[in-house]
Formats: sequence, structure tokens, C-alpha cells
Amino acid sequence: MGDDAARIVSANNASLEEASGDTTLRPKRLTEYIGQRNVTDNLKIFIEAAQQRGDPLDHVLFYGPPGLGKTTLAGIIANELDVDLRITSGPAIERAGDLAALLTNLNDNDVIFIDEIHRLNRSAEEILYSAMEDFEIDMIIGKGPSAKSYRIPLSKFTLIGATTRAGSLSAPLRDRFGIVSKFEMYEPHELAEIIRRSAALLNVEIDENSLMELARRSRGTPRVANRLLKRVRDFCQVKGEGRIDMRITEDTLRSLGIDQSGLEGLDRDILRLIIERFAGGPVGIDTISAAIGEERVTIEDVYEPYLMQAGFLHRTQKGRVASPDAYLHLGLTPPAGDQLSFIDEGQECADI
Ligand code: ADE
Repeated sequence: MGDDAARIVSANNASLEEASGDTTLRPKRLTEYIGQRNVTDNLKIFIEAAQQRGDPLDHVLFYGPPGLGKTTLAGIIANELDVDLRITSGPAIERAGDLAALLTNLNDNDVIFIDEIHRLNRSAEEILYSAMEDFEIDMIIGKGPSAKSYRIPLSKFTLIGATTRAGSLSAPLRDRFGIVSKFEMYEPHELAEIIRRSAALLNVEIDENSLMELARRSRGTPRVANRLLKRVRDFCQVKGEGRIDMRITEDTLRSLGIDQSGLEGLDRDILRLIIERFAGGPVGIDTISAAIGEERVTIEDVYEPYLMQAGFLHRTQKGRVASPDAYLHLGLTPPAGDQLSFIDEGQECADI
């Protein structure tokens, strides 16, 4: 190919841009990718080894909260391997035939990226088993007594699956990934580096304090950091003096309803609900979902990971519990005594 970036072949109308926003800020090479060193250090070795052998990279599963760079890293892997990348998502594949059409069009060592792979339907998932393991698929054409089964050989490819919930993957699918990597939320200093890089690409000047402030309030998430940077840029352009400073940064964050800890309106609504209507919890997730008017999966995948990471929320066997820090953050007095003591009894749950 010779080009710096792998050719991205759009599948099911899902291009990389549509899959997760802007491409101008997206790093294209491993050397440009900041953070997630536990993931990238190993990947570097696996990519080099596969290339030395001339084999496809083993199938890769990325899991972790949204916005942490799973799609970006899939694009980088294809670039590093110098192969084509095809992008689709679990919900976009309606029939097994849709997936078969994608798989039969791959060339040797190509990468196919399936976002939200936990939402793949059963018949499509079953096609993947033999595709991943033996690089062939069995298709049944026709119906009833005249139906015939055809074995279709495939090129040797790499599947990269991404999911916010590894626990929702069936065991047979999960077991077919040779490389399984967990994405962690970013440290503020890593987000500051990402914002510095993005500001340079967007050609905007930003001072060090503003950089750190945006990083601190980005929920550990590059997608949020880049979004905030763009909004501060807008405020700076209209109300500022050419350079993003603390006055513009504070002004923007206040206007967006983002508080000192990076929480937005719905985060605070969740905490306030648990504290004011349910005496701090425990409250079941479905109760929270109904009261807030937000889908359970959105609360679980988008809002809760940061609330837990920031120490405002605990998931327990009995439901969600607000921490003393959540009370203090909302300007309320935490309950005295041992209401929260069962959290410390080893009952906290990763995924309920
Ligand atoms: N943009 C989004 N995620 C990034 C990362 N991890 N490194 C650099 N730029 C990014």
C-alpha cells in the first residue's frame, strides 16, 4: 500500500468517522498513541512477531468503557500491519449473510473490526466461530429438503472485537480471541498530553493551567477531552483573545454544566436520586433507570464507570450506593454511623 494510513473500507455504511467521530485528531501510528501502555506494549510485540512470520495477527478483543480509544487502536493496528481495515458493528449486522459477505471479501492478513461485538445476533456469531478458528464458513443455501450446505474458504484475517461489556460475550466467542486487552481510564497527565497534541493539530493555543484543568475534568476519557477542547476553542474564538486561558476554560465548563470533578447534569441526577429518594442506597439499577429516564445500559456503560472510578458510587450485591464523597460533592452531609459499612465487607461487585 505504501500510504501512511491503511485503506479503510467502509462496511454497512459505517466508516471510521461515523463509528466514533473525528479522524483529524485520531493517531495513526502506535508511536503517536498516548497511554494504555499495558495494551500497546504487548501489541507491539505481537504485531512484530506476526509480521516476521508473515501470519495474520491473532484475533484481538478490546474491552472497557466507551471513548477510551478502542476503535482508534484498531485503526492503528491495521496501519502498522499495512493492511486494509473493514469496520462494522454488532447491531449493523442484521443477518448471518451480511457477515458472510464481509468475510468473503477480505484479503490475506486484513483486519475486520466489529464494534459492540456483544450485540451480534446469534446466527452471525455462529458463523464467526469457524471463520475465526479455521478461516472457513458453512453457509446453508435454500430451504427444506433442497437446502444445501456449502463450505466457503476465507483469507486468513484478524478480527478485532470491541465491547463495553466483556461479561456479555458468550464463552465460545470469547475463547476464540488470542489477545484480550482491557482499556483503563486515562490519568490526567495522559489526557493533558492528548489535549496538547489535539490543540496543536487544531492550531489553537492553550496555556498549561487550562490544559490541566480540561484534563482533570474529562472523566478519564480522550473522547471527552477532545470534545471539551473543541468547545473551549469555540468560546475562545467568540469571546476570547486568541489563546485559551483559565477564564475561557472556566467559562466554557460552567456553561456546559461540567463541575469541578468532571460530572455533568445526569451524573449529579443519579447521585441526587440515590441520596435524596433512597437515603443513599442501595437502589436497584432498574429503579434508577426508570426514575432518571435513561436506559439501563447507558447508565451502566456510560455514567457509572466514571462515578465509580471517581469514588462517588459503589455497585453492591443489593444495588447502587452513594459514597460519603458523593454527599460532600453535592454539598450534603453524609449519614453518620455504619450505613455504608457493608461496602467494605468485600461485597462490592464488578458487574451486577
Ligand atoms: N486521541 C484519542 N485517544 C488518543 C490516544 N490514546 N493517544 C493520542 N491521541 C488520542
